[in-house]
Amino acid sequence: MNDTPILRAADGKPALSRRTFMMTTAAGAGVAATCGAVAATPDAAANPYAGSQAARVTVNGRLHELALEPRASLLDVLREQLDLTGAKKGCDHGQCGACTVHIDGRRVASCLTLAVKADGCAVTTIEGIEAPDGTLHPMQQSFVDHDALQCGYCTPGQVMAAIACVREGHATSDAQIREYMSGNICRCGAYAGILEAIREAAPQMRRLEGARHA
Ligand code: FES
Ligand code: FES
Repeated sequence: MNDTPILRAADGKPALSRRTFMMTTAAGAGVAATCGAVAATPDAAANPYAGSQAARVTVNGRLHELALEPRASLLDVLREQLDLTGAKKGCDHGQCGACTVHIDGRRVASCLTLAVKADGCAVTTIEGIEAPDGTLHPMQQSFVDHDALQCGYCTPGQVMAAIACVREGHATSDAQIREYMSGNICRCGAYAGILEAIREAAPQMRRLEGARHA
C-alpha cells in the first residue's frame, strides 16, 4: 500500500496518510464492536497490532482459556487456535453460511463474529453435536440418509443452521425451511436433499428435545 497523504495541514504538510487512515479506522471498528464486552489492554489501545485479550470460552462443552488477538474472528480462532476445522471459510463476508456455529444456542456467522465477543459464552460447532457414544445427531443422520450433500464443503454450516432453524420453530413447512435456510448457500445445488433432510429430522428433533426438556 502506498503512503499517499490524504489530508494536509494548513501549512501543506501531510496531516494524515492513507496508511494511518486505514489503520485508525480498522482499529476503531474493532473497538466499537466489542464495546462493553471486553476492555482493551493499554497495549492494544496504543497499538491495535499488539497485545491480546484474555477470554474464557466454552467450546463443545470444554472450557478454553484463550489469549485472543482483538480483531480475530471466531472462525479463525476455532480453526487455527483450537484446531476445529469443521466450520468452513467460504466467503469470509457473512454471505454463504459455511461458517455457521451456535453461540449460547443461537446461530451466527463465525466469520463476522469477533472471537472476543464469545468471552463467557458457550460455542457449539459441528464437532460438538454428536452423542458421547458417537451416534450422529438426527440432523446429521438425515443429511446422510437424504444425500443432502455433494462436495460437502457447505454441509457443516447447513447442518448447524438446520438445527437452529428447527429450534427457532422455523421448520414447519417447506416454504419456511427454504426462507430460514436461505442464508446458507450450496454451490453444488443439493437443495432438494437438504430440504428433505430437514423435513424429516425436524419432528424427530422436537420429540427428542421435548423429552429432554420435559
Ligand atoms: Fe462466513 Fe461465508 S464464510 S458467511
Ligand atoms: Fe458442495 Fe454444498 S455440497 S457446496
